[in-house]
Parts: sequence; C-alpha cells; structure tokens
Amino acid sequence: MSTLAELISELLSQSGADPDLARVTFLEFRDHLTQGKIRAAEKIGDKKDARWTVNPWVKQGILLGFRLGVLQEMPAGLSFVDKDTFPARQFTVADKVRVVPGGSSIREGAYVAPSVICMPPMFINVGAYVDEGTMIDSHALVGSCAQIGKRVHLSAAAQVGGVLEPINAAPVIIEDDVLVGGNCGIYEGTLVRSRAVLGAGTILTRSTPLYDLVRGEVYRATADAPLEVPENAVVVPGSRAVKKEKGPWGWNLSLYTPVVVKYRDEKTDRGIELEDWLR
Ligand SMILES: CC(C)(COP(=O)(O)OP(=O)(O)OC[C@H]1O[C@@H](n2cnc3c(N)ncnc32)[C@H](O)[C@@H]1OP(=O)(O)O)[C@@H](O)C(=O)NCCC(=O)NCCS
Repeated sequence: MSTLAELISELLSQSGADPDLARVTFLEFRDHLTQGKIRAAEKIGDKKDARWTVNPWVKQGILLGFRLGVLQEMPAGLSFVDKDTFPARQFTVADKVRVVPGGSSIREGAYVAPSVICMPPMFINVGAYVDEGTMIDSHALVGSCAQIGKRVHLSAAAQVGGVLEPINAAPVIIEDDVLVGGNCGIYEGTLVRSRAVLGAGTILTRSTPLYDLVRGEVYRATADAPLEVPENAVVVPGSRAVKKEKGPWGWNLSLYTPVVVKYRDEKTDRGIELEDWLR
C-alpha cells in the first residue's frame, strides 16, 4: 500500500487524477498536519548530529489542497463596531475575490478587483483601488485611496499609507508587477513605478532621499511631486553618513536611506517568483 507521501506526490503529478480520491487523501493529509503527525521540516538524527530536514512532499500536499479547492463563502464569527457610514464590504463568490477568514476588513468604498487575494489579517481602507492578480499578505495595510496595480505582491506587514490622516495631497501609487517586500512602509504619496522591487524593510516617505547606485542619481520628493521609484529599480534599506556640519560631536552616526542597488534582472525575478498554485 502506498504511503501518504507517495499518494500526495502521485496526485500532484497527475492532472487528471480522480478528484474524490484526491480530496479524501488531502483531508487525511491535512488532519495529520493539524495533529502534528507530519511536519514540513523535522530534526533528524542524534542530538549532537541532529539536522533539520525538509519534507518536500508536505509542501506538495499543501499545494494539492490549493489545486483541489473551490471558492465558497466562509462566514466569520466576529462582530465589529464602526461608523455606520463605512460598513465592512460583503463579498460573494461572484466577486471572485478570495478573502481568507481571520480578522481582515475591506471597507465599502474600496475597489478590489476579481482575482485579488487577501490574507488575514489585513485591512483595505476606503478609496483604495486594488487591481487584478494582486496579493495582499497578512498584516498588510492598504491605506485610504492608495492605488495598487495589477499583480502586485504586498508582502507580510507591508504598510501603504493613506491620505486621510494626516491629509496628504496625493495617495501612494504602486504600479503593476511591483514586489513590496515584508515590513516595507510606503507613505506620503510615494509613486512606485512598474516592476520595481522593494526589499524587505524599505521605508519611503517624502523626506527619504533615494540613492541610485546604478545611475549615480539621488531622487527626492519636491513641493509638487512625490518621491518616485524608477521602473525596474531594486531598492533595499541602506544607510548614509550624517553630514559633518550637522554636529561637531564626532558621533559618526548614519541615517537610514533607501538605495537602488540594481535594476531588476533574472536573479531578482527568480528570488521573488510566486507560487502559481497559491493563487
Ligand atoms: C531585494 C531582494 C528581492 C533581492 O534582490 P536581488 O535582485 O536578488 O538582489 P541581489 O542578491 O542581486 O543583491 C544586489 C545587492 O544588494 C544587496 N542586497 C540585496 N538584498 C538586500 C537587502 N534586503 N538589504 C540590503 N542589501 C541587500 C546584496 O548584498 C547585493 O549587494 P552586493 O553585491 O554589494 O553584495 C531581496 O533582498 C528581498 O528583500 N526580497 C523580498 C523578501 C520578502 O519580503 N518577501 C516577502 C515574503 S511574504
């Protein structure tokens, strides 16, 4: 008799597998996972020589679950209290938006295109526009009126500021195919051009100059225009020395600054490739 691992691998490799058998197998797999009987990685060997070993078939099992799954409404048990002018939006299967249960909220007045994925907890505020194929990961915020393009990945805990509080003239705009890494903060009308990549932890505001190591330029917001991240730029959090005239105390401090380290290439694309089956 095949083991669960063999069954999962077989089912994943056959696109025409019997869906009922696949579902029964997946549910058994999921139960085992829930009960801690199987693990995605485990420490194997004697205490001194023990090594973490990955069980790739466990990830395959999870992917199988995504492949088998169909959209269905999932009513959440929580109740909320808020201004009656901005109730939470209600979705149905026809909206083709996946809102995974768990403390997420999307206000009426926010547009969320079909095929967007919202991982809990996340919040999309009024006036925001989130275009097709975009993934809003856990703990991400799409602030009021923020404009998020197609196939953008807003990674875990990425914060996109809104324009309501404080009142800033222009909303943050993130164009198509941008990757916003985990824990990024994009505020005050910053414009991120298409296919740019913001490395984890990058913070962009009207006051952060952006140093471009490739083109030898420094981009800044002006009175009339926000900070703009060029198309395809790969930006990571960096630091720069504090200018001497800012203090004679010899502290040798440095200030945080975002830096364009390169322009997107195949290596970047490989590093940020998304798992299609999760979609
Ligand atoms: C930006 C990122 C995509 C790397 O892109 P890449 O094209 O593979 O970059 P490379 O590895 O070619 O690095 C280019 C340079 O930038 C540096 N660099 C890369 N990522 C960096 C980071 N996050 N912080 C500081 N420096 C970084 C590299 O050291 C290298 O400099 P060096 O040549 O002087 O060593 C990656 O760092 C990142 O932040 N990914 C997002 C992770 C994430 O948040 N995932 C979300 C999951 S929910």
